[in-house]
Amino acid sequence: MAPARVVAVVLLAVGSLLLSAAADTATAPSPQPFVWQKAHATFYGGADASDTMGGACGYGNLFAEGYGTRTAALSTVLFNDGAACGQCYKIACDRKRADPLFCKPGVTVTVMATNFCPPNDALPNDNGGWCNTPRPHFDMAQPAWEKIGVYKGGIIPVMYQRVPCVKRGGVRFRINGHDYFNLVLVSNVAAAGSIKSMDVKSSDSEDWMPMARNWGANWHSLANLTRKMLSFRLTNTDGHTLVFNDVVPKGWTFGQSFVSKLQF
Ligand SMILES: *[C@@H]1O[C@H](CO)[C@@H](O)[C@H](O)[C@H]1NC(C)=O
Repeated sequence: MAPARVVAVVLLAVGSLLLSAAADTATAPSPQPFVWQKAHATFYGGADASDTMGGACGYGNLFAEGYGTRTAALSTVLFNDGAACGQCYKIACDRKRADPLFCKPGVTVTVMATNFCPPNDALPNDNGGWCNTPRPHFDMAQPAWEKIGVYKGGIIPVMYQRVPCVKRGGVRFRINGHDYFNLVLVSNVAAAGSIKSMDVKSSDSEDWMPMARNWGANWHSLANLTRKMLSFRLTNTDGHTLVFNDVVPKGWTFGQSFVSKLQF
C-alpha cells in the first residue's frame, strides 16, 4: 500500500473509533459495556445455591427460569433501580489487588443481574457495607463466585465488564395482577438483557399504550386488558425494538406465562 493510503486508512480507523466512542457515551446504559472496570465480589446462599429463589428483579425460581446459579445481586450504583435487571457481566478475580491465594487464575464467570444487594448503612463501606453507595459490588450465587474465588477469601477484588447475554429460545412474558393492573414480567432476554421501554396493544385497538417499569423486570399497564389478545413492543437498552404480535392469546388468565419465538 502507498504511504498516503496507509495514512488515510489509519485516519479512517481512528475516526470510526472516535465516532463509536462518542456513540457509546451517548447511548450506553451505566455501567458501560465491554470496558473492564473494578469492583468487589462476595457470595450468598449455599454451595447448592439454595437462595437463588426470588430476588428484586422478580424472575422467581431461577432454576425453573433456566438461569441456574450464574446470578448476582448488584449494589445500588450497579442495580440502577432495576434498570440493570437481566444484564450480563463477565467477572474475573483481580490478582493485582487480591491476595493471590484467594484468586483462581485465568478464569472468568458470566453472571446475570437478578437481584439487588441493599446498602447496610450500619456498617462501614470497607468492612461489611460492601453494597453501600458508591461501591460497585456483586453479591454472587456461591457456585458462580467459587469459579473465580477461593472460599476462604470471602470477598475478592474483581474486574468486570458487561457482555451480551446468551439465551435459548424466545423472550418470555408472565402476566400477573388484576383488571386495570397488568403486571408483566419480561424474562429470557438475550443480548443487552435489559429493557428500556415497553408498550402493549390489544387486538381490539390500533394504539400502542406505553407501560411503565413497576419493579425489577416487571412492567405494568393500567388499562383493562383482561382476556384480550395482546401484543408487546420492547426496546432494549441498546436501542433495538422488537414487536411480539399477538404473543398473548385471547382468553388468557392472570399467572400464565407466554413464550415468544422472537429474540433480540
Ligand atoms: C375488564 O375487562 C373484562 C373483559 O372485557 C371484563 O369482563 C371485566 O368486567 C372488566 N373489568 C372491570 C373491572 O371493568
